Amino acid sequence: MNEFVLVKLGGSVITKKDVIPPAINIPEVIRIAKEIQASTKPLVIVLGGGAYGHQAAHKYGFGIADTPASRLLSGIPSIRHNMSLLSGGIETILQSEGVSSVVIPPFPIVTLIDGEIERFPLEVITKTLNSGHTVITHGDVCYDSTRGASILSGDTIVAYLANQLNTSSVFVGTNVDGVLDANPNENPNAQIIPTISEHNKEQVIRVAGPSSSTDVTGGMAKKIHDLFLISQKGIEVAIFNLSVPGRLEGLLKGDQVICTRILA
Ligand code: IPE
Repeated sequence: MNEFVLVKLGGSVITKKDVIPPAINIPEVIRIAKEIQASTKPLVIVLGGGAYGHQAAHKYGFGIADTPASRLLSGIPSIRHNMSLLSGGIETILQSEGVSSVVIPPFPIVTLIDGEIERFPLEVITKTLNSGHTVITHGDVCYDSTRGASILSGDTIVAYLANQLNTSSVFVGTNVDGVLDANPNENPNAQIIPTISEHNKEQVIRVAGPSSSTDVTGGMAKKIHDLFLISQKGIEVAIFNLSVPGRLEGLLKGDQVICTRILA
Protein backbone atom coordinates (compact mmCIF):
# COMPACT_ATOMS: atom_id res chain seq x y z
CA MET A 1 0.00 0.00 0.00
CA ASN A 2 1.22 3.53 -0.78
CA GLU A 3 2.11 5.86 2.07
CA PHE A 4 -0.81 7.76 3.49
CA VAL A 5 -1.39 10.71 5.79
CA LEU A 6 -3.40 10.58 9.01
CA VAL A 7 -5.30 13.71 10.07
CA LYS A 8 -7.15 13.95 13.37
CA LEU A 9 -9.97 16.50 13.34
CA GLY A 10 -10.36 17.51 16.98
CA GLY A 11 -13.93 17.34 18.21
CA SER A 12 -13.68 20.85 19.65
CA VAL A 13 -13.23 22.28 16.14
CA ILE A 14 -15.69 20.24 14.07
CA THR A 15 -18.51 20.37 16.64
CA LYS A 16 -20.03 23.22 18.59
CA LYS A 17 -18.92 22.78 22.18
CA ASP A 18 -21.59 22.52 24.91
CA VAL A 19 -24.52 22.80 22.49
CA ILE A 20 -27.47 20.49 23.24
CA PRO A 21 -28.37 18.61 21.09
CA PRO A 22 -24.87 18.48 19.61
CA ALA A 23 -24.25 20.20 16.29
CA ILE A 24 -21.58 20.17 13.59
CA ASN A 25 -19.67 23.40 12.96
CA ILE A 26 -20.60 23.35 9.27
CA PRO A 27 -18.57 26.37 8.01
CA GLU A 28 -15.44 24.98 9.69
CA VAL A 29 -15.92 21.53 8.19
CA ILE A 30 -16.48 23.02 4.70
CA ARG A 31 -13.20 24.94 5.05
CA ILE A 32 -11.39 21.82 6.28
CA ALA A 33 -12.82 19.80 3.36
CA LYS A 34 -11.26 22.34 0.96
CA GLU A 35 -7.90 22.31 2.79
CA ILE A 36 -7.49 18.53 2.84
CA GLN A 37 -7.54 18.52 -0.93
CA ALA A 38 -3.95 19.87 -0.77
CA SER A 39 -2.82 16.37 0.15
CA THR A 40 -0.89 14.53 -2.54
CA LYS A 41 -1.21 11.26 -0.61
CA PRO A 42 -4.25 9.17 0.40
CA LEU A 43 -5.86 10.38 3.61
CA VAL A 44 -7.32 8.79 6.70
CA ILE A 45 -9.41 11.32 8.60
CA VAL A 46 -10.02 10.49 12.28
CA LEU A 47 -12.83 12.44 13.93
CA GLY A 48 -12.88 13.30 17.61
CA GLY A 49 -16.21 13.03 19.35
CA GLY A 50 -16.49 16.61 20.58
CA ALA A 51 -19.97 17.48 21.73
CA TYR A 52 -21.33 14.30 20.08
CA GLY A 53 -19.07 11.95 22.01
CA HIS A 54 -17.99 13.38 25.33
CA GLN A 55 -21.37 14.55 26.67
CA ALA A 56 -23.01 11.16 26.10
CA ALA A 57 -19.97 9.25 27.36
CA HIS A 58 -19.87 11.33 30.53
CA LYS A 59 -23.58 10.78 31.13
CA TYR A 60 -23.10 6.99 31.30
CA GLY A 61 -20.03 7.10 33.54
CA PHE A 62 -17.26 6.51 30.99
CA GLY A 63 -13.93 7.79 32.27
CA ILE A 64 -14.92 7.13 35.90
CA ALA A 65 -13.10 4.13 37.39
CA ASP A 66 -15.90 2.34 39.29
CA THR A 67 -18.80 2.66 36.84
CA PRO A 68 -20.51 -0.77 36.62
CA ALA A 69 -20.40 -2.56 33.27
CA SER A 70 -24.20 -2.52 33.06
CA ARG A 71 -24.25 1.29 33.10
CA LEU A 72 -21.49 1.57 30.49
CA LEU A 73 -23.27 -0.94 28.24
CA SER A 74 -26.52 1.03 28.56
CA GLY A 75 -24.76 4.03 27.02
CA ILE A 76 -23.90 2.26 23.77
CA PRO A 77 -27.04 3.18 21.74
CA SER A 78 -26.84 6.87 22.53
CA ILE A 79 -23.09 7.24 21.93
CA ARG A 80 -23.27 5.16 18.74
CA HIS A 81 -26.19 7.17 17.46
CA ASN A 82 -24.36 10.44 18.12
CA MET A 83 -21.16 9.28 16.45
CA SER A 84 -23.12 8.01 13.42
CA LEU A 85 -24.77 11.42 13.11
CA LEU A 86 -21.41 13.19 13.39
CA SER A 87 -19.52 10.95 10.97
CA GLY A 88 -22.42 10.90 8.49
CA GLY A 89 -22.65 14.69 8.62
CA ILE A 90 -18.92 15.07 8.01
CA GLU A 91 -19.09 12.55 5.16
CA THR A 92 -21.93 14.53 3.57
CA ILE A 93 -19.91 17.76 3.68
CA LEU A 94 -16.72 16.12 2.40
CA GLN A 95 -18.54 14.45 -0.47
CA SER A 96 -20.32 17.66 -1.44
CA GLU A 97 -16.91 19.38 -1.53
CA GLY A 98 -15.65 16.71 -3.93
CA VAL A 99 -13.80 14.48 -1.45
CA SER A 100 -14.67 10.88 -2.28
CA SER A 101 -14.92 9.52 1.24
CA VAL A 102 -16.28 6.57 3.19
CA VAL A 103 -17.05 6.25 6.92
CA ILE A 104 -15.60 3.13 8.55
CA PRO A 105 -16.85 3.09 12.16
CA PRO A 106 -14.85 1.21 14.82
CA PHE A 107 -17.81 -0.19 16.83
CA PRO A 108 -18.71 -3.10 14.49
CA ILE A 109 -15.10 -4.26 14.04
CA VAL A 110 -12.98 -3.26 17.06
CA THR A 111 -12.81 -5.00 20.46
CA LEU A 112 -10.98 -3.72 23.52
CA ILE A 113 -9.34 -5.18 26.64
CA ASP A 114 -9.24 -2.82 29.61
CA GLY A 115 -9.43 0.20 27.33
CA GLU A 116 -6.71 -0.99 24.95
CA ILE A 117 -7.24 -2.27 21.42
CA GLU A 118 -7.51 -6.06 21.31
CA ARG A 119 -8.64 -6.49 17.71
CA PHE A 120 -8.87 -3.89 14.95
CA PRO A 121 -9.00 -5.50 11.49
CA LEU A 122 -7.56 -3.15 8.89
CA GLU A 123 -8.47 -4.87 5.64
CA VAL A 124 -11.46 -2.65 4.87
CA ILE A 125 -9.43 0.48 5.59
CA THR A 126 -6.55 -0.53 3.30
CA LYS A 127 -8.95 -1.65 0.54
CA THR A 128 -10.78 1.66 0.75
CA LEU A 129 -7.53 3.64 0.53
CA ASN A 130 -6.35 1.48 -2.37
CA SER A 131 -9.65 2.21 -4.13
CA GLY A 132 -8.75 5.89 -4.08
CA HIS A 133 -11.21 6.97 -1.39
CA THR A 134 -10.54 9.00 1.74
CA VAL A 135 -11.27 6.99 4.89
CA ILE A 136 -13.24 8.66 7.66
CA THR A 137 -13.16 6.93 11.02
CA HIS A 138 -13.81 8.27 14.49
CA GLY A 139 -13.60 7.92 18.24
CA ASP A 140 -16.31 5.48 19.31
CA VAL A 141 -17.71 3.29 22.05
CA CYS A 142 -16.58 -0.34 21.71
CA TYR A 143 -17.12 -3.62 23.57
CA ASP A 144 -14.42 -4.21 26.18
CA SER A 145 -13.91 -7.74 27.57
CA THR A 146 -12.74 -6.31 30.94
CA ARG A 147 -15.08 -3.38 31.50
CA GLY A 148 -18.11 -4.18 29.33
CA ALA A 149 -17.64 -1.13 27.13
CA SER A 150 -14.98 1.60 26.79
CA ILE A 151 -14.42 4.70 24.77
CA LEU A 152 -11.91 4.27 21.98
CA SER A 153 -10.55 7.78 21.46
CA GLY A 154 -9.65 9.26 18.11
CA ASP A 155 -6.12 9.71 19.42
CA THR A 156 -5.80 6.00 20.23
CA ILE A 157 -7.00 5.18 16.71
CA VAL A 158 -4.43 7.57 15.25
CA ALA A 159 -1.64 5.88 17.23
CA TYR A 160 -2.81 2.40 16.25
CA LEU A 161 -3.19 3.12 12.53
CA ALA A 162 0.13 4.98 12.39
CA ASN A 163 1.85 1.94 13.90
CA GLN A 164 0.11 -0.68 11.79
CA LEU A 165 -0.05 0.94 8.36
CA ASN A 166 2.39 2.67 6.03
CA THR A 167 2.03 6.19 7.42
CA SER A 168 4.21 9.13 6.37
CA SER A 169 2.69 11.88 8.53
CA VAL A 170 0.33 12.35 11.44
CA PHE A 171 -1.29 15.78 11.86
CA VAL A 172 -3.36 16.22 15.01
CA GLY A 173 -5.76 19.16 14.80
CA THR A 174 -6.90 20.84 18.02
CA ASN A 175 -8.27 24.27 18.95
CA VAL A 176 -4.92 25.63 20.20
CA ASP A 177 -1.70 26.38 18.31
CA GLY A 178 0.01 23.23 19.54
CA VAL A 179 1.19 22.10 22.95
CA LEU A 180 1.45 25.12 25.25
CA ASP A 181 3.71 25.67 28.25
CA ALA A 182 0.74 26.64 30.47
CA ASN A 183 -3.04 26.31 30.48
CA PRO A 184 -4.26 29.17 28.21
CA ASN A 185 -7.48 29.49 30.26
CA GLU A 186 -5.41 30.26 33.36
CA ASN A 187 -2.46 32.03 31.76
CA PRO A 188 -3.11 34.25 28.71
CA ASN A 189 0.66 34.43 28.11
CA ALA A 190 0.94 30.67 27.51
CA GLN A 191 3.54 30.03 24.81
CA ILE A 192 3.64 27.31 22.20
CA ILE A 193 6.32 24.62 22.58
CA PRO A 194 7.67 24.30 19.02
CA THR A 195 9.39 20.94 19.50
CA ILE A 196 8.95 18.04 21.90
CA SER A 197 11.91 15.69 22.10
CA GLU A 198 13.40 13.29 24.65
CA HIS A 199 14.82 16.35 26.49
CA ASN A 200 11.57 18.10 27.39
CA LYS A 201 8.97 15.32 27.01
CA GLU A 202 8.40 14.52 30.71
CA GLN A 203 8.24 18.17 31.72
CA VAL A 204 5.76 18.97 28.92
CA ILE A 205 3.51 16.07 29.94
CA ARG A 206 3.47 17.28 33.56
CA VAL A 207 2.29 20.74 32.52
CA ALA A 208 -0.17 19.62 29.82
CA GLY A 209 -2.35 17.37 32.01
CA PRO A 210 -5.93 16.52 31.07
CA SER A 211 -7.51 18.91 28.57
CA SER A 212 -10.92 19.33 30.23
CA SER A 213 -13.29 17.82 32.77
CA THR A 214 -15.62 16.37 30.13
CA ASP A 215 -12.78 14.78 28.13
CA VAL A 216 -13.22 11.12 29.06
CA THR A 217 -10.25 9.85 27.06
CA GLY A 218 -7.14 11.18 28.82
CA GLY A 219 -6.58 14.62 27.36
CA MET A 220 -3.31 16.15 26.20
CA ALA A 221 -0.86 14.13 28.34
CA LYS A 222 -1.91 10.79 26.83
CA LYS A 223 -1.98 12.38 23.38
CA ILE A 224 1.66 13.50 23.69
CA HIS A 225 2.78 10.14 25.05
CA ASP A 226 1.16 8.19 22.20
CA LEU A 227 2.43 10.60 19.54
CA PHE A 228 5.95 10.38 20.91
CA LEU A 229 5.93 6.62 20.32
CA ILE A 230 4.80 7.20 16.71
CA SER A 231 7.56 9.71 16.04
CA GLN A 232 10.09 7.13 17.25
CA LYS A 233 9.22 5.18 14.10
CA GLY A 234 10.36 8.08 11.90
CA ILE A 235 6.84 9.30 11.15
CA GLU A 236 6.36 13.09 10.84
CA VAL A 237 4.16 14.21 13.76
CA ALA A 238 2.62 17.65 14.37
CA ILE A 239 -0.05 18.99 16.72
CA PHE A 240 -1.59 22.12 15.20
CA ASN A 241 -4.45 24.59 15.40
CA LEU A 242 -7.16 23.27 13.09
CA SER A 243 -9.33 26.34 13.67
CA VAL A 244 -6.82 28.67 12.00
CA PRO A 245 -7.39 28.69 8.22
CA GLY A 246 -4.42 27.50 6.18
CA ARG A 247 -2.53 25.57 8.84
CA LEU A 248 -3.77 22.12 7.79
CA GLU A 249 -3.27 22.96 4.12
CA GLY A 250 0.26 24.19 4.90
CA LEU A 251 1.18 21.01 6.75
CA LEU A 252 -0.15 18.87 3.91
CA LYS A 253 1.97 20.86 1.42
CA GLY A 254 5.10 20.56 3.59
CA ASP A 255 5.21 24.28 4.47
CA GLN A 256 6.48 25.71 7.76
CA VAL A 257 3.43 26.44 9.93
CA ILE A 258 2.89 27.30 13.59
CA CYS A 259 2.57 23.96 15.37
CA THR A 260 4.28 21.64 17.84
CA ARG A 261 6.47 19.06 16.14
CA ILE A 262 7.25 15.84 17.98
CA LEU A 263 10.75 14.70 17.11
CA ALA A 264 11.76 11.62 19.08
C1 IPE B 1 -13.93 10.67 21.77
O1 IPE B 1 -12.93 10.83 20.83
C2 IPE B 1 -15.01 9.76 21.23
C3 IPE B 1 -16.17 9.56 22.12
C4 IPE B 1 -16.30 10.11 23.31
C5 IPE B 1 -17.20 8.67 21.63
P1 IPE B 1 -11.74 11.87 21.11
O2 IPE B 1 -11.32 11.80 22.55
O3 IPE B 1 -10.67 11.61 20.10
O4 IPE B 1 -12.47 13.26 20.80
P2 IPE B 1 -12.06 14.79 20.97
O5 IPE B 1 -11.21 15.17 19.80
O6 IPE B 1 -11.31 14.91 22.29
O7 IPE B 1 -13.38 15.50 20.97
